[in-house]
Amino acid sequence: RIPLLIDTDPGVDDALALLMAFNDPRHEIVGLTIAAGNVGLKHTVSNALKLCEVASQDIPVFAGADAPLLHPSPDAGYVHGQDGFGDVGYEAAKRQVEAEHAALAIIRLSHEHAGKLLLVALGPLTNVALALKLDPTLPQRIARLVVMGGAVTCQGNITPAAEFNIYFDPEAAHIVFEAFERLDLADWEAVIAHGLHHDRVVGWLAAGSERGRFYERISEKTRLWSIDRRGDEWHAADALAMAFALEPDGALDVQERPVSIELEGTHSRGATIVDWRRQEGRPDKAAILMKYDQARFERLIAAALAAG
Ligand code: BDR
Ligand code: CA
Repeated sequence: RIPLLIDTDPGVDDALALLMAFNDPRHEIVGLTIAAGNVGLKHTVSNALKLCEVASQDIPVFAGADAPLLHPSPDAGYVHGQDGFGDVGYEAAKRQVEAEHAALAIIRLSHEHAGKLLLVALGPLTNVALALKLDPTLPQRIARLVVMGGAVTCQGNITPAAEFNIYFDPEAAHIVFEAFERLDLADWEAVIAHGLHHDRVVGWLAAGSERGRFYERISEKTRLWSIDRRGDEWHAADALAMAFALEPDGALDVQERPVSIELEGTHSRGATIVDWRRQEGRPDKAAILMKYDQARFERLIAAALAAG
């Protein structure tokens, strides 16, 4: 089985992505490293522990950065609930977080699974950047890095230029994008192009197992917010990234291009600048997801909610 390490800031769409990974027999999840992002670290850690407990997954959970590397940034509690899981008041998990810091766990696990590790980053890239600063040889041992992040045609969800995960910690994203020769990018525009019709989501949730029922509760606030703000379709960003990670052959159009992270600018901090016409002569950096098999994406989600 392919060893899978997930760096995440759960988060409602993170939780769906995690359920998809839990349900994949071809991957073995070797750890969850947790960042601050959607909400503060205290909540993202509790949420990860709770989801593992509900889904009976014995996976080590490592707490990482509690803030961006340099500049504080607003969270996304208005989307995910102030606790990141819809403020449903769930009972805290009995299991505990590991003592090891997430950045150290990333380095250790990269040695234990050298050359085989699939690293999927579903939140701000702070933990991965810290790991890179501690050990710049990290990319040599990662078989594949998949990142949910970026707005590749200036249609970001936080500013026109920037998507949340990159906007939250652009310095970390810059460190990661410079250090890895190649990464797979599930960008915000791809997420918009792969919306999930709310009626279908409701159908999957109604057919859900115990974990599906838990997911129904924690996702309700976000889904209502989304109906109110964005209409008929829900944009479950991290779920699309996870589909791309677990079943890359479902990608129908991927464009490889140089990408750099903008750290300054009045309108452009946190932008992922894609050199679409390769004008700067830099090497291609990211395999940018343009189109994924929608039916396969939806099958993966439905199965994840029904499993357990
Ligand atoms: C990303 O930002 C977060 O709010 C989501 O969990 C996802 O990782 C989408 O821009
Ligand atoms: Ca996320």
